[in-house]
Amino acid sequence: MCGIVGYVGNRNVTDVLMQGLKSLEYRGYDSAGVAVRCDKNIKVIKSVGKIANLEEKLQGFNDKSTIGIGHTRWATHGEVNEVNCHPHSVNNVVLVHNGIIENYRELKRELELVGYSFLTDTDSEIIAALIDSYKGNKCDALVYAQMKMKGSYALVIMFDDEANTLYAMRKDSPLIVGIGENENFVASDISVILPYTKKYVDIEEGEVVKITKSEVLVYSENGLVDKKIKTALWSIEDAQKGGYEHFMLKEMNEEKDLCVKLYNKFIEDGNYSDDIPDISSYNDIDIVACGSAFYAATVGKYLIDTYVCDRSVRVNVDVASEYRYKKHFYGDKSLVIVVSQSGETADTLACLRMANSLNVDTLAIVNVPSSTIAKEAKLVMPMLAGPEIAVATTKGYFSQVLELSLIAQKLGYIKGTISKEEKKLLIETFENLKSYLIPLFEIDYSTIASKLWFKEHIYFIGRGIDYIVGLEASLKLKEISYIHSDVYQAGELKHGPIALIDNDTPVISIITNDEIKEKSLSNAIEAQSRGASLYLLASENVDTDNLKIDEIIRVPRISEFYQPLLNIIPFQFIAYEVAKLKGCDVDKPKNLAKSVTVE
Ligand code: M6R
Repeated sequence: MCGIVGYVGNRNVTDVLMQGLKSLEYRGYDSAGVAVRCDKNIKVIKSVGKIANLEEKLQGFNDKSTIGIGHTRWATHGEVNEVNCHPHSVNNVVLVHNGIIENYRELKRELELVGYSFLTDTDSEIIAALIDSYKGNKCDALVYAQMKMKGSYALVIMFDDEANTLYAMRKDSPLIVGIGENENFVASDISVILPYTKKYVDIEEGEVVKITKSEVLVYSENGLVDKKIKTALWSIEDAQKGGYEHFMLKEMNEEKDLCVKLYNKFIEDGNYSDDIPDISSYNDIDIVACGSAFYAATVGKYLIDTYVCDRSVRVNVDVASEYRYKKHFYGDKSLVIVVSQSGETADTLACLRMANSLNVDTLAIVNVPSSTIAKEAKLVMPMLAGPEIAVATTKGYFSQVLELSLIAQKLGYIKGTISKEEKKLLIETFENLKSYLIPLFEIDYSTIASKLWFKEHIYFIGRGIDYIVGLEASLKLKEISYIHSDVYQAGELKHGPIALIDNDTPVISIITNDEIKEKSLSNAIEAQSRGASLYLLASENVDTDNLKIDEIIRVPRISEFYQPLLNIIPFQFIAYEVAKLKGCDVDKPKNLAKSVTVE
């Protein structure tokens, strides 16, 4: 959840580190720091808060250093202050760390017994002492630390007595080495290296990497490893704002072309292509994910349950943090699908590993191609969304829903619950999806936002798939605008939640499901009768004549396989506009981090 950058070469290192930290800030923004070699020793500079604060502190620091490390922190151990901020140094060792060392208290006791004392509340300072305590070759010291540590780590290390070298290693936390011309980089995220190089090597668990400006040496227990140099598929433009005020706005706008990209990848000559996994041989499918990815998974389950339901397949969805601690009885026709934008979410990864270790087939719907989940899943369906930088996912969720919809469609077609004609219509709708989306991007959402931004509570209601979209709509609003928001199945309102409705409490009713639209509308009116101000997201055929509605957004009515993709767009925009009106940091909401690599 923190971000790491390291550099060795000929450039001014603080420039490279600051540029890297800025592009990593979305991963954690409690505090940040750098360590750079100045002549004979290493200088550490830290600052609490945004990267801009560190940048200010670095002004006037015009050392000509060309080697250093940087870190942006999302606190896990110890409060947010300069002492706990990385880099941490103990005697000869200076390091930055992402992850959590689970046995750090035990290690701390052992190290205290041999004379170490500690300044910080972090687990990371313990690692520096652990490495320092090993007397001998530096690579051996790192292997010693690997053997002693339990937990997750991505580490970049400098030694005071070795001027031109960085060391790196990782376990369950991402880290790559960017390969340049007479310069090299280490980073927790590929976007850091893109302004300089597209070439990189993955670091595997158990490896120790020694990096100078002219070479990258990777050691495993079998000696020197011949690493394959890979080429990043994303460009630097993909990872920049491209003229938009916020990454979130840019990423929402990318949804229009993303559906075309996914169409080109997954539809071939009017048919579902082989790139859409065929899951028809499984009768027991678990879809596991966290946050928005879990809500996308819930759409997937709904579509399979509703349209493929022939009793031959059971689909279960669960949040990964729960799933990993439950008992599972897998059979030889079980499949575990994990859904993750980052491909590094700790709980989701743990579920994937659990399923892999039990020899259950696994499929990952994942966006970051170099991520651990992408590497470890038996089968991968790439999300093709490009870098998603805003903490609140938009295009990521969009792609996840669309891909799960395609898996469900193909499954239904193979099983015969979706006919040839229905398949043809579904594919035609997919081809035209962009044209259904465009009008939703042209609506001015500022009026509705101006009525909502000062509210303390906002409730969403819906039935069926409309309720499921409400889950994501509500999460979007609360995570970036900090307004308390909840979602209820519309029919459940009168069984309790309606007690929350006061005069002017905003209730946003989602009604696009034809079969139950009258019932949903009645539920909305029930809320209104208790004083709620009523907002509607409704398909064109929902008759609202003679009703007093505060604001209504009309969406085209299309197949439920795509309807959630239309319905979510207005809510992404409303959350965005509300957050802006409240003066919130849209791309980096408080307390959150983009990729949750701790449990
Ligand atoms: O990277 P992942 O898709 O695994 O992330 C899962 C959640 O942490 C993520 O969707 C989170 O809920 C977002 N902040 C929602 O906008």
